[in-house]
This record gives sequence, C-alpha cells and structure tokens, in this order.
Amino acid sequence: MSETEIKKGLAGVVVDYTAVSKVNPESNSLLYRGYPVQELAATQPFEAVAYLLWNGELPTAQQLAELRTEERKHRALTEQVRAAIDLLPLEAHPMDEVRTAVSVIGAVDMGGSGSVLDASGSPEQNLQRSIQLYAALPAIVAYGQRRRRGLELIEPRDDLDYSANFLWMAFGEEADPVVIDAFNRSMILYAEHSFNASTFAARVITSTLSDLYSAVVGAIGALKGPLHGGANEAVLHIMNEIGSADNVEAWLDKALAEKRKIMGFGHRVYKNGDSRVPTMKAALDTLVEHYDRPDVAELYSKLESEFVARKGIYPNLDYPSGPAYSLIGFDTLTFTPLFIAARVTGWTAHIMEQAASNALIRPLSAYNGVEERHVEGGQA
Ligand code: ACO
Repeated sequence: MSETEIKKGLAGVVVDYTAVSKVNPESNSLLYRGYPVQELAATQPFEAVAYLLWNGELPTAQQLAELRTEERKHRALTEQVRAAIDLLPLEAHPMDEVRTAVSVIGAVDMGGSGSVLDASGSPEQNLQRSIQLYAALPAIVAYGQRRRRGLELIEPRDDLDYSANFLWMAFGEEADPVVIDAFNRSMILYAEHSFNASTFAARVITSTLSDLYSAVVGAIGALKGPLHGGANEAVLHIMNEIGSADNVEAWLDKALAEKRKIMGFGHRVYKNGDSRVPTMKAALDTLVEHYDRPDVAELYSKLESEFVARKGIYPNLDYPSGPAYSLIGFDTLTFTPLFIAARVTGWTAHIMEQAASNALIRPLSAYNGVEERHVEGGQA
C-alpha cells in the first residue's frame, strides 16, 4: 500500500467553504451568518433565525410577517402524510416516522417534476420547499408523540407563533411563556452547526443533483445515530438509569470500567466545551425553576462535574437539551425529532449553498483488500 495519509472520519479535513455558520473552537464561539448564536437565542424568535440562515440577513418586520404567514399555510398535516404515519406500527422509532413523513412530502411535491434531470430545482423552488418542510415538521413530530400516547391529533392554531404552536400541537394546551422561551432557544441552538455529519450527508446527496427532500431524508438518517443527534435521547436514558445525584459516582465507576461512552459529552470540534451549552443550560435552569424540579439540576451538575473531573471531556448541547425537553413533557423518543425540526433550517441552507456552487462530492479511498487474483479454471 502507498503512504497515503488516511484522515479517518475526515477528522481535521476542510472540504469546502460555507457562509452559513462559523464554528470557532478556540474562542468557543458559533456564528450564524456572522451573529453569535447566544445573541440570537436571547433576542430572536426561531422564525427570524430560519430566515437568517436561508437568506443571509435577519428579516425586517415585514419579511418576518411574510414568513410567518407562509409558515401558517403549511402547518397542518396533509392527508397523505397522516395516512403514511398511521400505516406505521406504534413501535416504530419516531426518527423513522419523521424520515418517512418527509419522504412522503417529497414524493407528493416532486410528483410533477418529470425526470431526475429536473430534480434539483431552482433556488426559488428550493427556498419554498425549505419553508414548507420547516412548517410541516412540528405537526409531524407532535402528532407522532400523540399517536403513541393514544391521543387525538391537535390542529394548529393561526394565532400562535412557531414555538407556541408547536407546543400547542404536542400537548393541547397553551404553554407558559417561560416554556415557550426555553423551547424557542433550543430550536435556535440546534438550528445549524456547519459541516456536522447530517449536514455533510445532505450536501453529499445535493452534490449529485438530487432533490432537497432526498437530501433531508438522508440527513435525518445520519442524525438518528447516538454519536450525533440521537445523543439527546440517550442522555435521558442515562439519567433515568442513574436515578439521582447520590448514585452518580458509583454509576460512573461502573460505566467507565465498562468503557461506556457517556452520551451528551464530547465533541469532534469543541474540545474545551460546546459554545451552545451555557445558553441551553440557562434555559434548562428556568425550566427547573418553573417546574420546581431541583433534583434534575442536582443530577445534571453532579454528573457533569464528576465526568469532567475524571475525563476532562465537556458536555455538548444534547446534555442540557435532553432534560429540558423531558421537563417540558416530551417523550424521550421525541427528542431527536425535535432536533430535526430545528436543524432542517440549517440543512436546507446548506443544501441551497451546495447547489449554488456545486461540485460532486466523491472522495478517494486507499484499497487494503486482497491483491488482484483470478478465478481458478476460468469462467464456469
Ligand atoms: N464518554 C466517554 N469517553 C469519551 C466520550 C464520552 N462521551 N467522548 C469521547 N470519549 C473518549 C473516547 O473514548 C476516546 O478515548 P480513547 O482515546 O481513550 O479511545 C477519546 O475520548 C476520543 O474520542 P473519539 O470518540 O475518538 O472522539 P471524536 O472526536 O470522534 O468524538 C463524539 C466525538 C463522537 C461526539 C464523542 O465525544 C462521543 O461519542 N460522544 C458521545 C455522543 C454524543 O454526545 N454525541 C453528540 C455530539 S454533539 C451533537 O450532535 C449536538
């Protein structure tokens, strides 16, 4: 074999430019289109951040109102999507359910697009498809959870903005402003993170001139894994397993002896802490106070301090968001679908960026299989 240097997991490899977001692990900062994510989470509704990611600028009041009007048009579950979800067994993982629903939306919307040569769409079509998907996902996620709980679908409410309506469709009651605010922040923090595995998967699919829906379906598949988005679900499994702050040390002794990975800790890019964690932790604190659940904060802090002291590995965004979503009342299995609802904005911004200056993504491999050989006795 030649001396080719393999970058396993593409670690450290810069594959392209992006103007969507900038991750800077040295200064522990994350900028969306130049704005610090903490600032956006503190001041903006999720709708404005979606607009920013797609268009490069924050919306004016009129542009925000227009996006909100458009979003409301696509909020309700369509007949086809509902029928497709209802066909799935209740035991299906919600990530598979959402992936299927997005695939159905794509198949219906792309129905008249003719040959694959027309699949990739114009920039205007792709922006419209992005808005439609972002608007449709809350109903899909909320209905999935309600179906598993044996509850009826709740129709969207036009008088509520994105986050308030999302919580309304999930729980059938108007959420407290504290809860809406924490949820809105989580959506903003999850919206975008440069060339993470799912975004890169979306860009690879886009680079073949496939369509936006196919790219999002592929991205959902990548997000499902516990090394990526699935970690927010996994954090709650771990917290339930530990039970309370008193059990952390003994639990950690055993988990580390078994060489288990502690979900919600570590990051490929951030080695000194994830820039999004303090903002999400502050949102979690407001929920802990609102629901009067100091036990959640105690377990959170104890596991964090013990794990950081022992391994020097810091929490990532999934660590505070898992317990936050649990306090709000979401089922553990719904956490990663919530991540989809947020990240679809970043994915689609990258899909449009990739399409605008495309080059087929096709890396090389170094072969390490058997040397050339031949079938004995020639052809059968
Ligand atoms: N628990 C225990 N050990 C860990 C953890 C962890 N969460 N994270 C890293 N390590 C250890 C590894 O075992 C490895 O140790 P070793 O060198 O002794 O073998 C070392 O730290 C390096 O870890 P890698 O997995 O090789 O580093 P990488 O950069 O590939 O990992 C990753 C990043 C996959 C996120 C990893 O930290 C991990 O698996 N974390 C848990 C899953 C998780 O929380 N994912 C969410 C990512 S963020 C997001 O999607 C919002």
